[in-house]
Amino acid sequence: PQTLKEAFEDDFYVGAALNYRQANGNAPQATEIIKEQFNTVSPENLLKWESVHPKPGIFNFEPADKYVALGQQNNMFVVGHTLVWHNQTPTWVFEDEQGNAVSKEVLLQRMQEHIDTVAGRYRGKINGWDVVNEALNDDGTLRQSKWLNIIGEEFLEKAFQFAHEAAPDAELYYNDYNMWKPEKRDGAIRIVRNLQNKGIKVDGIGMQGHWGLENPSIEQIEASIEAIAQAGVKVMITELDIDVLPNPSNRQGADIDATFEFDERYNLYTTGLPDSVQQKLTQRYTDIFDLFRKHSDKISRITFWGVTDNDSWLNDWPIKGRTSYPMLFDRNYQPKPAFNAVINTAAKK
Ligand code: G3I
Repeated sequence: PQTLKEAFEDDFYVGAALNYRQANGNAPQATEIIKEQFNTVSPENLLKWESVHPKPGIFNFEPADKYVALGQQNNMFVVGHTLVWHNQTPTWVFEDEQGNAVSKEVLLQRMQEHIDTVAGRYRGKINGWDVVNEALNDDGTLRQSKWLNIIGEEFLEKAFQFAHEAAPDAELYYNDYNMWKPEKRDGAIRIVRNLQNKGIKVDGIGMQGHWGLENPSIEQIEASIEAIAQAGVKVMITELDIDVLPNPSNRQGADIDATFEFDERYNLYTTGLPDSVQQKLTQRYTDIFDLFRKHSDKISRITFWGVTDNDSWLNDWPIKGRTSYPMLFDRNYQPKPAFNAVINTAAKK
């Protein structure tokens, strides 16, 4: 096979997250890759609350309409991301006109209106929703957020209930990062069990794949794939990218290296990826896809968080000029050695 979607057609969907330009048809070279290689798409930013519902009563559906149309026209499994998250959600959602926190009842009403309007609009068109994103701390406890603080734990079940009412045919997921950590993955499984016990529909857990060249280990990823499947829901690897640079933070703030701004490692390779690192990336993608294939009975979808190295959120983060090489396609829209290596994993027994 020449394409990712053909190579893994008996295993799982393979997809990519699209940015605004790609969804709007303003990035023809990327669009070509998207249509050729993938059979599922995710929206990188355009369906987040601040994008689609920036002000009370104001919805901005144009980018999302184009995104959904692109997916439908190409017979893709169209993913929605995301309905309830602490990030990229405007502060007005949680406040009254005086800037005071709203009551639980008001916030639940706003949540329901948002989910009804957004998930309802794409009912029958968006095939799966990340209903709740990143509600957990790394230790598996619930993250302090305005959702939790104002509504309480019930915000989780309400989100899934509203999503199911608005889009009865859509699959519904819980999505989070660092899911290779056993405590965090078990936290996600507790969320799912709680929903199941209450008879609320939940179809899968998304393990975001923002991983490095060395960590997490294949064994750690495997243990979480197995544990999630044991809980009786689909496993998806969402948001896959392999950062070739050192991770500047664990995104919980605990191990941020205060000197990183002056550390040349974070801005290395701006003249190109050295061969030795290219080889490591190729091997890492090979090992990861060998693992995914081994568990293709449990995994329903693999989604890359971007198309080419140029699109990735890992550039310019957390400092301007940071240049990373996490994807399978380079900045000239050419497949990297890792692309061929991934395709080859499909031919193995
Ligand atoms: O649209 C504005 C633009 O008008 C402005 O000039 C520019 C200046 O910074 O910012 C633009 O917004 C940026 C937005 O992406 C769109 O490009 C934001 O600053 C930037 O913070 C935002 O980053 C996104 C990030 O989520 C925010 O949380 C990344 O693109 C997106 O890839 C990333 O995706 C998340 C997943 O949704 C959840 N899991 C983690 C993952 C990576 O952080």
